[in-house]
Amino acid sequence: MPKLAIVYLSTQGSTKMMAEAIAEGAREKHVDVDIDNFYEWDPAEVAKYDAICIGSSTFYYTMLEPIAKFLDKLIEIGIEGKLGAAFGSYGWSGEAPVLIAEKLRKAGVEVIDPVLRIQYVPNEKDLAECIRLGKDMAKKMKKKE
Ligand SMILES: Cc1cc2nc3c(=O)[nH]c(=O)nc-3n(C[C@H](O)[C@H](O)[C@H](O)COP(=O)(O)O)c2cc1C
Repeated sequence: MPKLAIVYLSTQGSTKMMAEAIAEGAREKHVDVDIDNFYEWDPAEVAKYDAICIGSSTFYYTMLEPIAKFLDKLIEIGIEGKLGAAFGSYGWSGEAPVLIAEKLRKAGVEVIDPVLRIQYVPNEKDLAECIRLGKDMAKKMKKKE
């Protein structure tokens, strides 16, 4: 089975809810998903996966600092040819997912457009969008196999 890594950082759980819904969608399409908070991930491990989704909420018009550092390590390592997606909850400006996508591209990842942004706490409709992203990612992964 193709393997998907979902790495996120969330201060109050909104981006975490998105991450879990993306995982649910991908699992429905029979992809092997490992999902965890950023603190549990070693960037070198990501090299073992076929695709990676990275999420952060927006704070002070950018992504959370640990996620930026994590992505800089991925750029250093270079993870060419993998599929990727960026997501995150935001309040009013929502830059984080766009900036995550930029860094993923720098690391050599083929990023799904557009990024997925949800304002504040996701509702049922928002979570359905996250599930759909997980399914879309799974389909793309299977096509690449
Ligand atoms: C101190 C602080 C700064 C924030 N700065 C921004 C910002 O610059 N742009 C924005 O869109 N949202 C901003 N937000 C809103 C958060 O992104 C929003 O509450 C989000 O839902 C948090 O998601 P999380 O629970 O996954 O961390 C800020 C929130 C706080 C508490």
